[in-house]
Amino acid sequence: MALRSLSAAVKAIALGVTLWPIAQGGCTSDPSELVWISTNSSLPKVVIYSAGGTILSASNYSRLDNVNYGSGVGPTPEQLIGNVSEVLNVAQLAVVRFPASGGSSGLNSSLYLNISQYANRQLCSEDSDIVGAIMFHGTNTLEETAFGVDVSFNCSKPFIATGAMRPDTYVSPDGRSNFFQAVAAAVAPSSRDRGGLIAFNDRLTSIYYSTKLNANTPDTFKALEQGNLGAFLGGQPYYFFGPSYPTGRPYFDVSNTTQLPSVIILYGHQGFDASLMYSAVANGAKGLVVLGPGAAQLSPSARAAATELYKQGIPTIAVARPVTGTGVPGPNPGPVFFSSYVGAEQSRIMLQLAINAGYSLDEIRDLFESPLRDAVYAPSANQEWYYGT
Ligand SMILES: *[C@@H]1O[C@H](CO)[C@@H](O)[C@H](O)[C@H]1NC(C)=O
Ligand SMILES: *[C@@H]1O[C@H](CO)[C@@H](O)[C@H](O)[C@H]1NC(C)=O
Ligand SMILES: *[C@@H]1O[C@H](CO)[C@@H](O)[C@H](O)[C@H]1NC(C)=O
Ligand SMILES: *[C@@H]1O[C@H](CO)[C@@H](O)[C@H](O)[C@H]1NC(C)=O
Ligand SMILES: *[C@@H]1O[C@H](CO)[C@@H](O)[C@H](O)[C@H]1NC(C)=O
Ligand SMILES: *[C@@H]1O[C@H](CO)[C@@H](O)[C@H](O)[C@H]1NC(C)=O
Ligand SMILES: *[C@@H]1O[C@H](CO)[C@@H](O)[C@H](O)[C@H]1NC(C)=O
Repeated sequence: MALRSLSAAVKAIALGVTLWPIAQGGCTSDPSELVWISTNSSLPKVVIYSAGGTILSASNYSRLDNVNYGSGVGPTPEQLIGNVSEVLNVAQLAVVRFPASGGSSGLNSSLYLNISQYANRQLCSEDSDIVGAIMFHGTNTLEETAFGVDVSFNCSKPFIATGAMRPDTYVSPDGRSNFFQAVAAAVAPSSRDRGGLIAFNDRLTSIYYSTKLNANTPDTFKALEQGNLGAFLGGQPYYFFGPSYPTGRPYFDVSNTTQLPSVIILYGHQGFDASLMYSAVANGAKGLVVLGPGAAQLSPSARAAATELYKQGIPTIAVARPVTGTGVPGPNPGPVFFSSYVGAEQSRIMLQLAINAGYSLDEIRDLFESPLRDAVYAPSANQEWYYGT
């Protein structure tokens, strides 16, 4: 019975028959409007937020092409389900497509605000029977969209981002495995209460700390300092630790947000031109993120500019330029704010959301620095020598 309906479903996909109407632009985000692809109505429900990417792409050149793909016609999410039909043994699935054409390097905050609004309404409402969500996204900026959703998602259900580094036509496409694993993680109760996760290349990492580290290979999403939260064995997630949230992870309500203030990232280096900081503000930036060499050490001219801009109400977040580690604030509050291990692109999003939420400069400093201050300068840390006597 199950087998027969599964093969009917797969055949329908193969034939291009629309067994299930597909959520299109303008669709409502009421969970009851979702159309479920299912071979067993007892299975938990997982919604797929599809923003495209390599996982849904194809090469028309060769089965070895992982560099010039995108020209071929890639699978739809429904065809991917058809080709990884094992997913229908673990979940019922529904697809919501988000406009994200042209590669993930061209995307902006409109996408994550939209996905977040859908995710909160569809998963976090009291009567929701959806156990988790996965997101397909181009890997180039996956960490940004995922972070934006993560810090604005108001329930403990799994939100799992995934994608692929190889097109679906590759001799061994990673997207199919990533897809199955993301769904398996989304239905696992052990995935709850951790914040958003990335399922990629047999590993689970925290969205809050993850970065794409390799431009070409499937082993690309890593949280180098914080490590893997788990691995996949036989397609199932195995967590190394019990649930916990990233230290200092905030929550922002974006249910009515469509526009965010501009925040610009600048890359510190020898000979850094601090006039770019003033130019960014003159161009409309309401905040800055500056990568400082070492432990986020801004150059003297960048520090002077940040101090001047602070007086004008413009916050500057200093992020450590090395791939791992963090800048640490001094014992007394200063005009440059340090980001407590939050990366540069993530700090930009966090600062945009904080400014949008009306945070004062002191509140923004607290948002970024409290986790560090609580650890380094806590009364119990006996660091009074920093303050002199
Ligand atoms: C949000 O996504 C929905 C579903 O794809 C789409 O209809 C709508 O146009 C999107 N809104 C924005 C502002 O992009
Ligand atoms: C449907 O899923 C439920 C829950 O996992 C399982 O107990 C049941 O055996 C499945 N039914 C079929 C026909 O596979
Ligand atoms: C693949 O697609 C590109 C871009 O659409 C086109 O220029 C090329 O001719 C195509 N190659 C094949 C073998 O179809
Ligand atoms: C599997 O993927 C291929 C390539 O995208 C597609 O043509 C085919 O329809 C898919 N198979 C099923 C059963 O959906
Ligand atoms: C984001 O990009 C879309 C598509 O190009 C555009 O319609 C939208 O206005 C952009 N949003 C922002 C905030 O720039
Ligand atoms: C949900 O929102 C409230 C504030 O509105 C916040 O205190 C709480 O931490 C949020 N929960 C999650 C899981 O983000
Ligand atoms: C969003 O808008 C709705 C409808 O106007 C309102 O009820 C709700 O309180 C608003 N939420 C926030 C966080 O402003």
